[in-house]
Amino acid sequence: MLKHQEIIEQMTLKEKIALTSGQDSWRLQDFPERKIPKITLSDGPHGLRHQEEGQDHLGINESNLSTAFPPACLTAASFDKELLFIMGQAIGYEALCQNVQVVLGPGVNLKRNPLCGRNFEYFSEDPVVAATLSLAFIEGVQSMGVGTSLKHFALNNQETNRMKSDSVVDRKAVYDLYLKAFEKPILEGKPYTVMGSYNLVDGVYASEEPWLIGEVLRKEFDFQGVLMTDWGAMNDKKASFIAGLDLEMPGGAGYFDEDLEKSILEGTFEEALLDKACDRILELIMKTTKNRQEQMKVLGPLTKDSVDIKKHHELARSIAEESMVLLKNEGEILPIEPKAWPKIHLIGALAKEPRYQGAGSSHIRPYRVSSLKEALAEEGVEVTYHEGYLLSGDEAFVEEACLEEVGAEDLVILAVGLPESYESEGFDRKHMKLPPGQNALVHALANRNQSMVVVLYGGSPTELPWVSKVQGLLNAYLPGQAGGEAVKNVLLGKVNPSGKLAETYPLDYKDVVSSSYYGKDPYDAWYLEGLYMGYRYFDKAEKPVRFPFGFGLSYTTFSYGPVHLEEHKEQERYEITLSIKNTGNKAGKEVVQLYGGYEKIKGYHVKKSLLDFAKVSLAPSEEKEVRFLVPKRALEEYDRHYGQRVLYEGGYVFSVGSSSKSLHGEVRVSLVGVQPIVKVLSPFYDRGEGVPSEEDFLKLLGEPVVKKLVTKPYTIDHTLGEMKEEPQMRYILKKLTNTLKRATGVTDVNDPAYLAVEAMFMQTPVKRLTLLAPDKMPKHLGETLVDVANGEYLKAAAKAVKRREKR
Ligand code: BGC
Repeated sequence: MLKHQEIIEQMTLKEKIALTSGQDSWRLQDFPERKIPKITLSDGPHGLRHQEEGQDHLGINESNLSTAFPPACLTAASFDKELLFIMGQAIGYEALCQNVQVVLGPGVNLKRNPLCGRNFEYFSEDPVVAATLSLAFIEGVQSMGVGTSLKHFALNNQETNRMKSDSVVDRKAVYDLYLKAFEKPILEGKPYTVMGSYNLVDGVYASEEPWLIGEVLRKEFDFQGVLMTDWGAMNDKKASFIAGLDLEMPGGAGYFDEDLEKSILEGTFEEALLDKACDRILELIMKTTKNRQEQMKVLGPLTKDSVDIKKHHELARSIAEESMVLLKNEGEILPIEPKAWPKIHLIGALAKEPRYQGAGSSHIRPYRVSSLKEALAEEGVEVTYHEGYLLSGDEAFVEEACLEEVGAEDLVILAVGLPESYESEGFDRKHMKLPPGQNALVHALANRNQSMVVVLYGGSPTELPWVSKVQGLLNAYLPGQAGGEAVKNVLLGKVNPSGKLAETYPLDYKDVVSSSYYGKDPYDAWYLEGLYMGYRYFDKAEKPVRFPFGFGLSYTTFSYGPVHLEEHKEQERYEITLSIKNTGNKAGKEVVQLYGGYEKIKGYHVKKSLLDFAKVSLAPSEEKEVRFLVPKRALEEYDRHYGQRVLYEGGYVFSVGSSSKSLHGEVRVSLVGVQPIVKVLSPFYDRGEGVPSEEDFLKLLGEPVVKKLVTKPYTIDHTLGEMKEEPQMRYILKKLTNTLKRATGVTDVNDPAYLAVEAMFMQTPVKRLTLLAPDKMPKHLGETLVDVANGEYLKAAAKAVKRREKR
């Protein structure tokens, strides 16, 4: 029996079909006569991008004003569950004020490679960090009665060809890494919705993959909410329903409706599957509508103007302050004592025009943005300011004037970072470097001055070839709208930094194990590195890094006491305790990290992985006990041989550290479990040596994988990019691209929105272009393009005549 059986029985088939796709980009279908109200979804995740008009999914057109909290790249570094909960609550409140029922976030895809253009929107390379913090965020938003959408399910770790790339990953890496990031937030947070991903998984689109949706999401993760497609990610609606998906977004194209209706009427498709999807969608609509009514009873009538803009700005500031990561502080150059310096030079275009959020669908319109320059001025700190470099991109320009002014005794605060054109949703970064002008500027300044503090902006790691030449380094990531004040407060010591890196900073991009193949093949995203990603790889390969996962400094110091272990047999869990003391003279916070790993295990296993963490606040000389409760289940690993997660027989080591590389104590237990079956695979998988080859990978998978090729004739499942080499397509595509770009209003080639539109246009299957923009790429235009690409001009012309006759 369905929960909303009564309503469903009254609905016509057409109405039910209509309910399973949006009304437009952001709203679900409403049926006032059936008392089914309208609800609105909005991006997310670090604030609201609620568009009432001019809807798009790439963050191009204007949206309502809202608070731009720091994106996940920075908040992850807080390692602070409470903070994420509070941020979620504030966003939930803004959603209530804007009559938004579901916030499209958080994003928990793991940062498989630093070049992923969308890393700024994701939390970590580690699934425990991603899962724990996204859970807190979900609980925060949903405590306001507003739904969330955990995204993008699953194995979506690159932007290159995101609409057609096929993620092939071995089961152990799938379970021990990638799905682990989704498991806890779904099981415990019960997000009202989950959003699927664009890519294929083992040759099948994620939006219709039966194992991923049916087995994992619906059964193992017990997900009862609405599973929706990413925008335009539907491929075959019937297959999606069979797998367990409910909602196609956005709406408006009606692409699959006729066929679905026909199949149901002819009895070749089970209507019950449609009803099930309708039931879940109705539950979402009814629940969020009721929640809102109840909230209004408590909070009073809420409108766009009800948000306390100042209070939320302050909250955005304190979240940024709690998250920034101090990476270097030689000679305690920080915190800055302004009076101690003859002159302070603030250099860098980013100090005036900060990057505070990423580009793409999460791009929101903040109430206000504060810059470091402005914040220092407000604080009365006198500085001389120079832009130093051009913000626009690849120019090697260095402003000579600022070099001449800097004296050897002065203090330099230099803001550098990734320009907007370097990172965005829709495409991956080309390299891991900062623009050449910025690197040249750091070197030139370092030659004149030995008191330089660099503030780093950007959503993902960059190579820092000059790090030994600067004295201070603060990673502000993308600090949200109040970033200017937050950076200022950390630099001046009003706030003691306590963030830790939720990802590894490699010395050089070449050190990243996937660097030789990530994003290089247009279709086959083979995760050759398997489990060895991020610190798991650097640990296994024993390779040095610039800054390890979990690393971050403070203005005070901490000492770690001995680690104790107690086993609670009945509850099937371990209790690990230790004391931690603030040994400095400033109040501060430390992120204590608990890692675990099998002691002598050989072969395809990581050395250790994060099990839990705790952020502890300590006054000078204060000492506190930290307690971790670890369920035995958390020690399990997926084992191919046994086809499930298992505990292995033998020694297991819990270690406690202030980063993944600085461990301060450990305790051991002897586990009763299955015997590990050691299978010799290759030096890479066995010991982390060298780089993985495709042959090694196929051996690891134990089954053949077919590489994708572009086959002809073209169909609506091909992309325009795939057809572009056909001579007859060149002119057409050029014209069409220009029309589309004009239609989006973006003409600057350095604007990430321009690059994202271009990538989307060329890398999206024609069918999906229709789903995304039925007005700009109607079904018949897509089909005509395909006919023309196949050289079937007569067919195209005949169809055009038929259409005209019909009209
Ligand atoms: C993104 C989603 C986003 C959606 C709606 C898509 O392009 O991948 O994360 O929520 O657009 O804007």
